[in-house]
Amino acid sequence: MHLSSLLIAALSIYNAAPCLATKSKSPTDSQRPRSLYTFDELWNLEKKFWDEFLYPANVKQTRGNESTVFATDVQGRVDITRTFDGDELNREYIFGLFSEPSRVSLVGVPVAYSITQFSANDNIASATTVVTFNATTFGILLPVTIDTWIEFDGDGKIAQYDATFRWFEYLLDQILESVGMKINATSPTQTVAYMSDLLAKSICATHESSCKGANQQYNSTEACYDYLTKSIRFGKSYELGRNTLLCREVHEHMVPYRPDVHCSHIGPSGGSYCVDDTSYSQTVLAKYFNDSWIPYGYGKDQDIWLA
Ligand SMILES: *[C@@H]1O[C@H](CO)[C@@H](O)[C@H](O)[C@H]1NC(C)=O
Ligand SMILES: *[C@@H]1O[C@H](CO)[C@@H](O)[C@H](O)[C@H]1NC(C)=O
Ligand SMILES: *[C@@H]1O[C@H](CO)[C@@H](O)[C@H](O)[C@H]1NC(C)=O
Ligand SMILES: *[C@@H]1O[C@H](CO)[C@@H](O)[C@H](O)[C@H]1NC(C)=O
Ligand SMILES: *[C@@H]1O[C@H](CO)[C@@H](O)[C@H](O)[C@H]1NC(C)=O
Repeated sequence: MHLSSLLIAALSIYNAAPCLATKSKSPTDSQRPRSLYTFDELWNLEKKFWDEFLYPANVKQTRGNESTVFATDVQGRVDITRTFDGDELNREYIFGLFSEPSRVSLVGVPVAYSITQFSANDNIASATTVVTFNATTFGILLPVTIDTWIEFDGDGKIAQYDATFRWFEYLLDQILESVGMKINATSPTQTVAYMSDLLAKSICATHESSCKGANQQYNSTEACYDYLTKSIRFGKSYELGRNTLLCREVHEHMVPYRPDVHCSHIGPSGGSYCVDDTSYSQTVLAKYFNDSWIPYGYGKDQDIWLA
C-alpha cells in the first residue's frame, strides 16, 4: 500500500468515527461530555443549523416535542435580548419567532444566509453569518449580521450558543428610516409613533386571542394599547430584553405556543423577561455559561462568564 493511500485511509477512519475521540466526563470536570469533532464536521453542523434557521424549514423546528437541533438543557444568550434555557423555549425563540411571514414583525423571516467567517476547534465553532431577512411587514429585504459561538454536544446538538447582532443599532435605524419614507414621515418621532401603534395593535390582538383566564394581563384591549404606547419605552437597540415595547414585540410571537408561559412577558409585569433587572455591568459580567467557550479546556481559571 502506498503511503498516500494509507494516509487517506487513516484520515477517513478519523472522519468517520468522531465518537472514538469522545472524552468521558471526569468527576471534577463540570463540562458536559464533549466530542472532538473534525473541522469538516463542525462546518457541517454549523451549516445544518443555518439551513434549519431559514424559512420555511424553521416551521418544522417549532413542531414536535424534541429538538433535532438543540440539546434538552441548551443554554443560549443573545446580546440584544437575554438568556434562554432549554430546548422548548429555544425552539420557540430561535425558530418560532422568525417563521410567520404574515404576522407583524420587525425583521420578518430569514430567506438566505452566507457564512463569512468561520473558525472551529474541539466542539466549538465561531462564525459570522449574514442572513437575508424578508421584512414582510415593511416590504424590504434586510441583510442582518449575526456573530455566533456554538458548542455542540456528543450528538451534534447545540449545547450552548452565544449570539451577537452586529450593527443592530444601525439596522434598527435603517428599519425606522425605511418605514419613515414609506409613510412620508416628517420626523423620526412620527415614525416611532407609527411603529408603536403598529406593534401595540399586533401585541394586543395576540393578547386578546391567546391570553385568556388566568393568563390575561390587561383588562381590555384599550388598556393594553394605552399601556404599551404610553407607559413603557419603545426601546433602544440593546433593549429587546428590557421593559420596552420592542421586548414585548419579540415575546408576542411566542405567546401562541405556550400562553401560560409567555403571556406575562407581553403584560405590564414583563414576566421577568421584559424587565429592567440588570445594569450594564451586571449584563456584561454575568456568570451564565456552564461550559467554557475556550476549546480544549484552556483558560478556565480566568474565565468570568463561567457559572
Ligand atoms: C413526544 O411526542 C411523541 C410523538 O408525538 C410521543 O410519543 C412522546 O411520548 C412525546 N414525548 C414527550 C416527552 O412528551
Ligand atoms: C448549569 O449549572 C447549574 C449549577 O450547577 C445547574 O443548576 C444547571 O442545571 C446547569 N445547566 C445546564 C444546562 O447544564
Ligand atoms: C418576501 O415576502 C413577500 C411577501 O410574502 C414575497 O412576495 C416575496 O417573494 C418574498 N421575497 C423573498 C426574497 O423571499
Ligand atoms: C407619500 O407621498 C407620495 C408622493 O407624494 C404619495 O404618492 C404616497 O401616497 C404617500 N404615502 C403615504 C403613505 O402617505
Ligand atoms: C384591572 O382591573 C382591576 C379591577 O378593576 C384593577 O384592580 C387592576 O389594577 C386592573 N389591571 C390593570 C392592568 O389595569
